[in-house]
Amino acid sequence: MARSYKIAVIGGDGTGPEVANEAVKVLKTAADKFNFKVDLTDFDFGGERYKKTGETLPDSAVEELRGFDAILLGAIGHPDVKPGILEKGILLKARFELDQYINLRPVKLYPGVECPLKDKGPEHIDYVVVRENTGDLYTGTGGFSMKGTPNEVAIQTSVYTRFQVDRCLRYAFEYAKKRGKKARNKGPENTLGLVGKTNVLTFVYDLWERAFHEMGKKDYPDIRRDYYHVDACCMWMVKNPEWFDVLVTGNMFGDIITDLGAITQGGMGIAAGGNINPEGVSMFEPIGGSAPKYTGKGVINPLAAICAMQMMLETLGEDEAAQKIESSVKFVTANKLKSLAAGKMGYSTTQVGDMVAEKVTQ
Ligand code: IPM
Ligand code: MN
Repeated sequence: MARSYKIAVIGGDGTGPEVANEAVKVLKTAADKFNFKVDLTDFDFGGERYKKTGETLPDSAVEELRGFDAILLGAIGHPDVKPGILEKGILLKARFELDQYINLRPVKLYPGVECPLKDKGPEHIDYVVVRENTGDLYTGTGGFSMKGTPNEVAIQTSVYTRFQVDRCLRYAFEYAKKRGKKARNKGPENTLGLVGKTNVLTFVYDLWERAFHEMGKKDYPDIRRDYYHVDACCMWMVKNPEWFDVLVTGNMFGDIITDLGAITQGGMGIAAGGNINPEGVSMFEPIGGSAPKYTGKGVINPLAAICAMQMMLETLGEDEAAQKIESSVKFVTANKLKSLAAGKMGYSTTQVGDMVAEKVTQ
């Protein structure tokens, strides 16, 4: 019997639906070519629905989403809705409620893509950031007191449990083992680098560091363990990205360094991420946001959404299809697009999707 997947598609706001459409186009093409079935269901969560109904992501929808094999998310963020409402109400709610405790962000420079780093090419920029996705400053632990007075206090606390740290580290070590890429300039082994701030955050990153070395020593003696303070890591991501193989870090640092990583791989037109629950339903998204000023113009780059779809297929175990999509994206960046930027690609959104899809059939 053919393999079959139930996929939820949340196009979301702004250019989200446009790029999600192209990812779905490529998905359908890959399904035909590699003999699996996809059963797609659209959901209309996002700013427009919120404006009409006041609803973000209702609990009943979370329950429904649990029944899918994976979720594709276009983008969340609406110019008429106060920042935070949709992000917290939809994106973060899905991540937390579905316990998508890993945010996987590959930083990979494809051929033909302009890189802002001097003298760096695809052979230098090819690593993955494993960002913890459920703890840290994102838990909403904190509050105000004396709000609105000159003595107002605002507290927002970084929270981590050993359990959260351990399960994230386990995923990162396993990922480093599976990835099998040898770090090129620093030694022959696979490496996992912990990114923290042990010189200042002496509780939270002390926990991370102890857990990291304990697990590594005991269960992954063949994986070399590196440590970077997050500020220094930002410098190395610019100066020596070829050092990195797999990096693992907490939620807040992960959020910040992955945008830096994204710009080194060509920016929001190409960068994708996966919100992964290895034991449950995962959600894949281009990380670029809803780009309201380009909405409906057909100029936004759909490659990031297509790459998100590729990560989805990899996670579902459709490796052959995933590899084919990746090589097709590389073909398009290397031979077709003038730029990855919206409006400057030399092609429309749908044309870019068509070119990738066509290459997938070959
Ligand atoms: C990301 C985004 C989100 C985050 C926002 C939109 C809440 O920046 O996925 O990196 O901070 O996690
Ligand atoms: Mn971010």
